[in-house]
Amino acid sequence: MPAASVMTEPGELGRFGEYGGRYVPESLVPACAAVEEAFREAWADPRFHRDLDRLLAVHAGRPTALTPAWRLSAELGVNVLLKREDLAHTGSHKINNVLGQALLAQRMGKTRILAETGAGQHGVATATAAALLGLEATIFMGEVDIERQALNVFRMKMLGAEVIPVTSGTRTLKDSTSEAMRHWVTCVDEAYYCLGSVMGPHPYPWMVREFQRVIGDEARRQCAAELTTGNPDYVVACIGGGSNAAGTFAGFADTPAQLIGVEAEGGAAIAAGKTGVLHGFRSYLLQDENGQVSEAHSIAAGLDYPGIGPEHAYLKDMGRARYVTVSDAEVIPAVHRLARTEGILPALESAHAIAWVIRAAESGELPPWSTVLVTLSGRGDKDMATLMEAS
Ligand SMILES: Cc1ncc(COP(=O)(O)O)c(C=O)c1O
Repeated sequence: MPAASVMTEPGELGRFGEYGGRYVPESLVPACAAVEEAFREAWADPRFHRDLDRLLAVHAGRPTALTPAWRLSAELGVNVLLKREDLAHTGSHKINNVLGQALLAQRMGKTRILAETGAGQHGVATATAAALLGLEATIFMGEVDIERQALNVFRMKMLGAEVIPVTSGTRTLKDSTSEAMRHWVTCVDEAYYCLGSVMGPHPYPWMVREFQRVIGDEARRQCAAELTTGNPDYVVACIGGGSNAAGTFAGFADTPAQLIGVEAEGGAAIAAGKTGVLHGFRSYLLQDENGQVSEAHSIAAGLDYPGIGPEHAYLKDMGRARYVTVSDAEVIPAVHRLARTEGILPALESAHAIAWVIRAAESGELPPWSTVLVTLSGRGDKDMATLMEAS
């Protein structure tokens, strides 16, 4: 049963049960504390909300549509509704969080924004917000991701951002996050670290969830208007660090809807991980037998992360949300199926959520004509090269 107190404020130092926290070097403690203080003030200030809501409306194109997937629903025998974050400016939900954090950086008097990126969507969103607000942007990106998301690298550069290739480790999201955090230590006075998901040290998991809550709040109102039952039976979202899922779940945590997070099989921190600490927070992490963080592998660059946001670990332990996995092999047919039935090309990340719905409907796990809200976190343009190679 839903508990009224879920997905509100975390406990002291950002604890969600035993997860979260602020495990950072001494030199970053004051910087994280300053971000927390600034966020608390801003979030209690109606002028900040007014400025953010206006940017979300006139720049990012909110509210995004809730689209009934008519032909897919008819084929699957369940009622699928899509929350269309692919229609947000820059092509994914990442812009919601970034506009919030960029406004916060400006309010704190910072002149530069640092960010990590995997699929490039958070990097593009950061470069966009920086251009809009007249800030400098420096984006850290693993060499492997630079190669598979070349279009997004070019977009970031066009928007005036500096893209720094990360050559350490697996040269993907884990390493670009480590590098961005290392760099932050050297320039905390002028730079703001704009984290792209519900991970990192406190207050980021909480703050990013609050900036992404707009997805769930809008969808809740749209479902109330669209559905005779008011709420969907299932709420489904893909999970990299977990921000589109956390923002969506936040809107439905106090309803009876079943919350389903879909991890990539090769990055399934909850399904295959153990608790540990990475990038400033405690959560489930993929680890080898010696406790070393292991590599994640996913066809979707944005899901190629060995951890998961701490609040998801907590929701899993308390049984409020369920976490499932989808393999690379299921993802490409899901892209094709949505493209052919609905005329929508989803991002490979978002296609994980669609793939689970297809599997669960076809196996009978989803009761006939149950209502399933799926957050379509982004559009597939960035993935065309990967899809061309795969076909
Ligand atoms: C389109 C899209 N969806 C989902 C994700 C995963 O991030 P999160 O789990 O924070 O929503 C990414 C990350 O880059 C993305 O680009």
